[in-house]
Amino acid sequence: MSADHEIDNLLHEERHFAPSSEFAQNAIAQANLYEEAASDRLGFWADQAKRLHWHKPFTKTLDWSNAPFAKWFHDGELNVSYNCLDRHVEAGNGDRVAIFFEGEPGDTREITYAELTREVKKAANVLTQMGIKAGDRVAIYLPMIPEAVIAMQAVARIGAIHSVVFGGFSADSLSSRIDDAQAKLVITADGGYRKGKASALKPAVDEALAGDKCPSVQNVLVVKRTNQDVNWVEGRDVDWNMALAEASDEHEAQAFNAEHPLFILYTSGTTGKPKGILHTSGGYLTQASYTHRNVFDLHPENDIYWCTADVGWITGHSYVAYGPLANGATQVMYEGTPETPDWGRWWSIVQKYGVTILYTAPTAIRSFMKMGSSIPAQYNLSTIRVLGSVGEPINPEAWMWYRKVIGGGKAPIVDTWWQTETGAIMVSPLPGVTTLKPGSAQVPLPGISAKILDDDGNELGRGHAGLLVLTEPWPSMLRGIWGDSERFKETYWSRFEGMYFAGDGAKWDEEGDLWLLGRVDDVMNVSGHRLSTAEIESALVSHPYVAEAAVVGAKDETTGQAVVAFVILRQSQVEAAGDADHVSKALRDHVAKEIGPIAKPRTIMVVAELPKTRSGKIMRRLLRDVAEDRPIGDVTTLADTSVMDIISGKVAAGAND
Ligand code: WTA
Repeated sequence: MSADHEIDNLLHEERHFAPSSEFAQNAIAQANLYEEAASDRLGFWADQAKRLHWHKPFTKTLDWSNAPFAKWFHDGELNVSYNCLDRHVEAGNGDRVAIFFEGEPGDTREITYAELTREVKKAANVLTQMGIKAGDRVAIYLPMIPEAVIAMQAVARIGAIHSVVFGGFSADSLSSRIDDAQAKLVITADGGYRKGKASALKPAVDEALAGDKCPSVQNVLVVKRTNQDVNWVEGRDVDWNMALAEASDEHEAQAFNAEHPLFILYTSGTTGKPKGILHTSGGYLTQASYTHRNVFDLHPENDIYWCTADVGWITGHSYVAYGPLANGATQVMYEGTPETPDWGRWWSIVQKYGVTILYTAPTAIRSFMKMGSSIPAQYNLSTIRVLGSVGEPINPEAWMWYRKVIGGGKAPIVDTWWQTETGAIMVSPLPGVTTLKPGSAQVPLPGISAKILDDDGNELGRGHAGLLVLTEPWPSMLRGIWGDSERFKETYWSRFEGMYFAGDGAKWDEEGDLWLLGRVDDVMNVSGHRLSTAEIESALVSHPYVAEAAVVGAKDETTGQAVVAFVILRQSQVEAAGDADHVSKALRDHVAKEIGPIAKPRTIMVVAELPKTRSGKIMRRLLRDVAEDRPIGDVTTLADTSVMDIISGKVAAGAND
């Protein structure tokens, strides 16, 4: 039996979940969307764009003549913030709650669309008074508090460009991002609440700007959240709360060209220097709102939507700060961590606000699984009707748990594939249309064209794995890398002529559904056979012993690469699992059974934690260092830097046989 054939076994998912007729009947997205988009792709996107308010309507949909630099709706003018705020108030929905804010200590705020609009107008006036003009860059370094959304919206409103830097990043990372974008202003806070205590942010800003490190910065606007003591630089630092209190709440939104830059968001690439991914206005907002409405089946009058992502990541841009507001949604925003004060916090929030749509990441789902179903079972989660997943492949076991324990066995799960670069969701089921299949992101959305190619650029069909590409431009696509158009062309457009190379491996199954196989740099080559880390991880976590698993390819003299697995055991199984040799044998046999002997990990290491970035991505680079017995590389982007000391102290279990 060939390795390819063996890999097929795992991706042949037997479980299918058709939408209920009740859900399908009331769903926003109907099956005809696919036909509409297929028969006239550009006309379809123009129709989606027309759901926004245009100060000056566009007459042209796409200009691709200077590919890969796209222009969408480029003779039109709009204001992004007007679309997210004023127009809902003008439509009579000013009293609708825009944000239910839940602070980690338990403080709450309820902000209506009318109130949010007023706050954003005040903030826009403050920015203008500080000399910020259209096109200027503003760095935002804030915790998950409403001011983060207010700041982003205010920057957008005056046509300036925000660069949100995740609050968990260090002073150095902040400094290099500020400098790369030549930001004039930094908006930050004294601190925020995390894991039960006030955690400072302002000192990192002071350090990032110290000496003449970032000469472009003229001011720092500081939100008071924790009232910690902060260092204050006279003439540079401005108190947000005081400035807004004095500002006028009158502000007329000006129109900007559809291609006016909206934001830069830095993301890591294959080199050490992060890439400043550039997004613009009209196309971005069109696709963020289109996907938010159709993929989550948003009924803004009734739904309570909650996306758990931090605004420091693209998900927090498109599905907290822009998409939901463009659609007039009511959303929950939570400041803290899921385990504070205990692992029931998220479910208590769902119960308290009656959350109907929950969008989160597989890593969180697996953490909850690890803690046990009895915790969510203590809360009333019956309001939930749509569940979303993003950021990495969701293994079928986590998918099933999510559906059963969180979704009451009935809520559809939308597994959404996309990237910082794509700006919005690209591949996902539509909840009232698609028959769901655990573990697969399924099909490109209406309006999106994806293919899978082999290394030579030949298109692959059902049953084959290769490289995922996007073959047609889409409205929310990145418009470039800030200050580096060569890197933009090189990274995304040079691998295959005229196509966007996503950097992910993928496979069409026999039914034409798409399975993401992880980054191509996470794809291993063992004895000439291509194996995906995600696939082996999925097999490992389907064994009752295993709560979480991470797999890396380590150099091997004989096989090129060898599979090395790091596993966390389920609390309840530690005794049954026995010693390391026993665990190793059981899991290697299990993987052999699930995928084939070729995929058997050479080494299995039982660990207590996995190294993750603050956004929850496993840092395989560090695990590779352990697997290849090298000194551990740079750990500064880890959420918990002590993890590597714990892991590297472990002794490898099992051996070749
Ligand atoms: C991965 C996050 C499988 C993928 C929105 C992609 C996924 C990278 C999924 C982008 C998914 C994201 N299934 N893999 N549903 N969603 N990914 O830029 O490898 O933080 O290339 O954007 O995450 O990560 P980014």
